[in-house]
Amino acid sequence: MTAATTSTTTPPAPTRPRSLSGIKSTGHPHLGNYLGMIRPAIQLQDTHEAYYFVADLHALTSERDPVAMRQQTHEITATFLALGLDPERTAFFRQSDVPEVTELTWYLSCITAMGELERAHAWKARKDQGDEGAAVHGLFAYPVLMAADILLYDAHVVPVGKDQVQHIEFTRDWAMRFNHHFGETFRIPEAAVREEVMTIPGLDGRKMSKSYDNGIDVFLPPKKLKQRVMQIVTDSTPLEEPKDPETCNVIKLYKYFATPEELSEIKAKYRAGGFGYGHAKLALFDALERHLGPYRAEYDRLIADPATLEAVLAKGADKARATAYQVLSRARERLGFLRWPAGRTH
Ligand code: TRP
Repeated sequence: MTAATTSTTTPPAPTRPRSLSGIKSTGHPHLGNYLGMIRPAIQLQDTHEAYYFVADLHALTSERDPVAMRQQTHEITATFLALGLDPERTAFFRQSDVPEVTELTWYLSCITAMGELERAHAWKARKDQGDEGAAVHGLFAYPVLMAADILLYDAHVVPVGKDQVQHIEFTRDWAMRFNHHFGETFRIPEAAVREEVMTIPGLDGRKMSKSYDNGIDVFLPPKKLKQRVMQIVTDSTPLEEPKDPETCNVIKLYKYFATPEELSEIKAKYRAGGFGYGHAKLALFDALERHLGPYRAEYDRLIADPATLEAVLAKGADKARATAYQVLSRARERLGFLRWPAGRTH
């Protein structure tokens, strides 16, 4: 361990624990994002000092249309705000507005083993598709940027969907490695994964994912929402016959939006027969409307007001940069670089 020569200390304890998370700006936010990350993240505002961002640098591994990039950032921002994110309490920002994160990515890259990145689930999946030589380096290095996202803000907890847990484990490993080599610098974060929201199924029963195009967007207009719900894949058991609620894709989603009574009621109807999948889909549609419908008008208002969205993002970036500056100062000093080059203030 290298002794620090100046007064850099371990991370100062913020008054409330810090929660941090990001959401990639590819496609529209869907119910999987909502249940796995957006809703838990918003709930954590009450007990945590929260930092949430639109991961547009991560989106850049696949999104090359600047117009879509900006639009998707706005959609995510409007979604969070409509659902209750409070920009007065929570820093909500764009990842690319805090360029310090790319600097930290490089520092972490220099202590990350290629073999670790080879083991990353997303990379392995890409490799299985073949022709990985054509994949971009940003995809391979994705977990390093994500670790930088988390460590740059001294996060205690990271609310994420189950698919992101491996990334948090990498983050912890690299933070410990850095601390071990260079001296106490980074806080070691924990993943906060909601057990009851493990993997949200999409229309076809596979994990709801932008890449499978099996998602249901959070704020579809009611008519479109209904159409999408009707596309959920079910088997061909005739209406009058009993059905198994446990294996049905409609129920797998319904259970997140129904009351416990509604859920046991619909399961009984499945088992009794004489209840069709069409009926179940309508029940799901109603539950979704009840749950998300009241926020839709606010979403529609915000998405039509990019200036307000940009103002929220600018305010969030200001707060995020101030924190990033401090954490990066510690890292730079540990590495034997100048704490900051002359003139750089934040
Ligand atoms: N990789 C995450 C996803 O695809 C998004 C993300 C980027 C993120 N950076 C993060 C999540 C930092 C949590 C913390 O959903």
